[in-house]
Amino acid sequence: MAVDLSLEWLGMRMASPLYNASGVMCRTREELDAVAGSAAGALITKSCTLTPREGNPEPRYHATALGSINSMGLPNEGYPYYFDYAQQFDYRKPLFVSVSGMSLEDNLFMLADLRDRHLPCLPEINLSCPNLPGKPQLAYDFAATAEALEKISQVYPGAFGVKLPPYFDPVHFAQMAALLNRFEGLRFVTCINSVGNGLLIDLASETTLISPKGGLGGLGGDYVLPTALANVREFARLMPDKHVIGCGGIKSGAEAFMHILCGATAVQIGTCLHEEGVGAFARIQHELAELMAQKGYQCLADFRGRLKTL
Ligand code: FUM
Repeated sequence: MAVDLSLEWLGMRMASPLYNASGVMCRTREELDAVAGSAAGALITKSCTLTPREGNPEPRYHATALGSINSMGLPNEGYPYYFDYAQQFDYRKPLFVSVSGMSLEDNLFMLADLRDRHLPCLPEINLSCPNLPGKPQLAYDFAATAEALEKISQVYPGAFGVKLPPYFDPVHFAQMAALLNRFEGLRFVTCINSVGNGLLIDLASETTLISPKGGLGGLGGDYVLPTALANVREFARLMPDKHVIGCGGIKSGAEAFMHILCGATAVQIGTCLHEEGVGAFARIQHELAELMAQKGYQCLADFRGRLKTL
């Protein structure tokens, strides 16, 4: 059976629902071009700040059999680098620019510049970086998130999205969804950023696996799949007029299928892409198509959001 993995959303066409999670293979032009030239259906840049950042001290990323821990600290080339990349971008796939200012004012400054440059890209505003010592994740502060979105909506008239941290309580899902639903320009949410401030330990040496923040870092991979699925499912259910982009624990066609079954419009690959490289896109795409064919689904809409409950 012929399976169609393409999708259209917000006026954009993607040949495949898979792309990179911000933070993986997207800091430099060379990395972005590698994703653009792969089977990925879109691409997103590293979260950018006003000025370039080196990030946290090494070692700051470690993979295990079950996933990864990182405390990168937003290493990036500064926002003009990514906006210039967007200006000369000529691949026929959507480009997202991840924006993560060190303050609301920084975000507003970058978004005003993006607005004025009319670049062919959509912003994903990162409200959830867990790795900045002394700076809590904005999206865990609901009042501050509302204030940020109000100001962002005044400055930026186009469609935008936000990257959310994981939530763990139905009351918080409902409160955050009600808040996000108030903003018309907010067209998509990406669920989830890494599960912040986990701790992985090397048993033999009795040492943390990464250096920053006493070893605390954001978890990805298998560690986070159930949490990611719950967040995708709940936000898709509570925000039927917005798109949810799934991120967390996708390493094969099976997890990509589960995210879409929970309601994801498209899905991002993080840890698996870091470990396997851009070949992961073609492999996962092939596995997803095979799974859909086995189940008799011809297109993503045949099963998107159709999770059954007992
Ligand atoms: O530390 C980092 O650069 C990660 C950012 C994020 O997870 O948002």
